[in-house]
Amino acid sequence: MTVLEKIGPPPSRFGGTVLYDWDYLVQEDRAHRLIYTDPAIFEVEMTNIFGGTWTYLAHESEIPHENDFITRRLGLRPLIVVRDATGKIRALYNRCTHRGTTLCRWDKGNAKSFQCPYHGWNFLNNGKLRGVPWPEGYAEDMRDPKYNIAQVPRVESYRGFIFGTLNLDALPLTQHLGPIAPIIDEWLDRNPGGKVVVCEANRFRFKGNWKLAYDNSCDGYHVAYSHRSLLETENRFAGENAKGMAYYRNSPDTQPMYMRYTGHGNHFKDKRPNLEKRPGGLWALESAHPGMEHYEAEFIRRYGDRAFELLDLAGSEPVNINVFPNFSLLGNHIQVFEPISVGETNAIWYGTMIVDDGRLGDAVGDINTLRMRTQEGFPNFGEVDDVANFEQIQRGLMALEDEWVYMHRGLGIPDRIKQHEDGSITAPATDEVFMREHFKEWKRLMKARPNLAIQREP
Ligand code: FES
Ligand SMILES: [Fe+2]
Repeated sequence: MTVLEKIGPPPSRFGGTVLYDWDYLVQEDRAHRLIYTDPAIFEVEMTNIFGGTWTYLAHESEIPHENDFITRRLGLRPLIVVRDATGKIRALYNRCTHRGTTLCRWDKGNAKSFQCPYHGWNFLNNGKLRGVPWPEGYAEDMRDPKYNIAQVPRVESYRGFIFGTLNLDALPLTQHLGPIAPIIDEWLDRNPGGKVVVCEANRFRFKGNWKLAYDNSCDGYHVAYSHRSLLETENRFAGENAKGMAYYRNSPDTQPMYMRYTGHGNHFKDKRPNLEKRPGGLWALESAHPGMEHYEAEFIRRYGDRAFELLDLAGSEPVNINVFPNFSLLGNHIQVFEPISVGETNAIWYGTMIVDDGRLGDAVGDINTLRMRTQEGFPNFGEVDDVANFEQIQRGLMALEDEWVYMHRGLGIPDRIKQHEDGSITAPATDEVFMREHFKEWKRLMKARPNLAIQREP
């Protein structure tokens, strides 16, 4: 049995969730600038969104052994995501129960216990207070569970991806993911053994609201304009064939790629229909960057007939999978958005490696080396364009009197958007229906009184 502590609406000066008329701020075709700029709205989001729904925390491969830990955040809450001595994955608040300092200042490591750097209280990695210095100074029984570390009450993994929520009424994670789960399966199952191992990250921080990144995650409308220099590079290598993102160069809506909204704020952009179905088809899309031809020649020299099949494992899967509010699978990377304040956000791109299931042999090292080099493609030459847009939107939204952001591309055009039996929605690549839909989820969560709690070991 664990001890649950229910969390009521925050007794804030803003009066919790009755702060604004949310239906006014987010309408069918437009959103008010305040949702990106108002610190009071950001404060509610940190409870109702990053707390009220499933939020991505970490990947199991980052804590493969007992007592491995990694420090992360759930909204603004500092966390220690740990695999405890029994192998159970927990998300402990990185906060000492004495006077509130962070307990762990390392990014990651292996520890059976955490000793607070301030006065030395010592906690087991299951969250229990093990001991305090000079206990004779306390009249009280220090075994009271209130001194054990607070924990996220619900932590669940989907095929290695660890999510957490404080909401006791949230659907089980697999149901919450719903129709996007099989797309995540496809992303994993193209790799030997159906898995990835997460490695170090490429880190960006931008001066803009976190939602600007999520609004962009399925946006096929901006590519030809915002990523012009990257497209020009790719076009130079493309010849007659569209490579990389060069298939955005003409009207993207005439291409076989599409976007699909799958519910609960989740969506994906599927560019796989643009692939040629042959060994090397995926690599052909990926190889449109200077220097890639040398890697290709070396793979052919080393691996002969198998070269293109192996190169496909190095290339980025052309699908962007976005799980609201903070998680994207982009190519062969995991991107995570971390809000810092209403106008500042981290965008972190974790690289992924594949494992040898017995078929790859020596090639696995070469494939993984080349997977890291794909950071030199979109993450370095594309993400900077996006981040520049996010910062400039945040600046533009300081024009107080011009209040609305429009997201109505595709709305009201007959037969453009298709509704499916499972509730999901398909639209052409440049449509903004994904944004209209994830804002419905945002609004639902902002209006709710979520059943939030933390837990402690007894
Ligand atoms: S703040 Fe942690 S022991 Fe005092
Ligand atoms: Fe972009």
